[in-house]
Amino acid sequence: MKLLITAGPTREALDPVRYLSNRSSGKMGYALAQAAVDAGHEVTLVSGPVSIPEPAGVKVLRVESAQQMHDAVRDRISNVDAAIFAAAVADYRPVQAAAQKLKKSEPHLTLQLERTPDILGSAREVFHFGGLLVGFAAETENLIDYARSKLERKQCDLIVANDVSDKRIGFDSDQNAVTLITRDGRTTELAAASKAEIARQILLVVEQLAAKG
Ligand code: PMT
Repeated sequence: MKLLITAGPTREALDPVRYLSNRSSGKMGYALAQAAVDAGHEVTLVSGPVSIPEPAGVKVLRVESAQQMHDAVRDRISNVDAAIFAAAVADYRPVQAAAQKLKKSEPHLTLQLERTPDILGSAREVFHFGGLLVGFAAETENLIDYARSKLERKQCDLIVANDVSDKRIGFDSDQNAVTLITRDGRTTELAAASKAEIARQILLVVEQLAAKG
């Protein structure tokens, strides 16, 4: 199979030296890329800025902002059989990045933010992707309900529900624990394990869904 995987955070520039971002380390997406290449798949990894080593045998495209990640996915998704969106894409960006470093002349600073492109949400409707679509849902409450609703809205085949309120798993941890939800409503809980192990389990389900067609 040919796979496209997104990983890591994005950075949304405020000025030449500052940005808005989040705590994603890229470990989950990179573990998925490693597991896929180990299983014999051809993998393109679209990665936000991270400081972990690139998995061997994977084509890595480095991007910084949500817009750049969107463009990299848009340009490549029609060539793959499955796409897995593990990146923590910033949902908002400053309306305008300042050309010069912002000066601290005022006691308060108000930022005006606008939505970034919804890459997963564009996969079916805008990119017309007909392959297997896997999203993540990072939630701090109502995990399963919110994840199910994302699966429907974004027309995914599989959603990986990730409770990111638990600091032992999720963002920037070496471990994860997730619930997999498929379109037929079936849920599978993957108990806490290394991200490498969780990635292997997710990939097995992706392979089973792809085999069903
Ligand atoms: O990188 P790590 O430190 O290993 O942490 C892993 C993780 C917690 C980041 C990962 O397991 C995870 O949950 N990734 C999804 C994070 C997220 O932003 O989820 P969300 O519920 O906000 O987004 C839903 C889905 O839409 C995700 O597949 C996301 O990649 C995608 N998305 C979101 C916003 C956007 N503008 N474009 C998108 O494609």
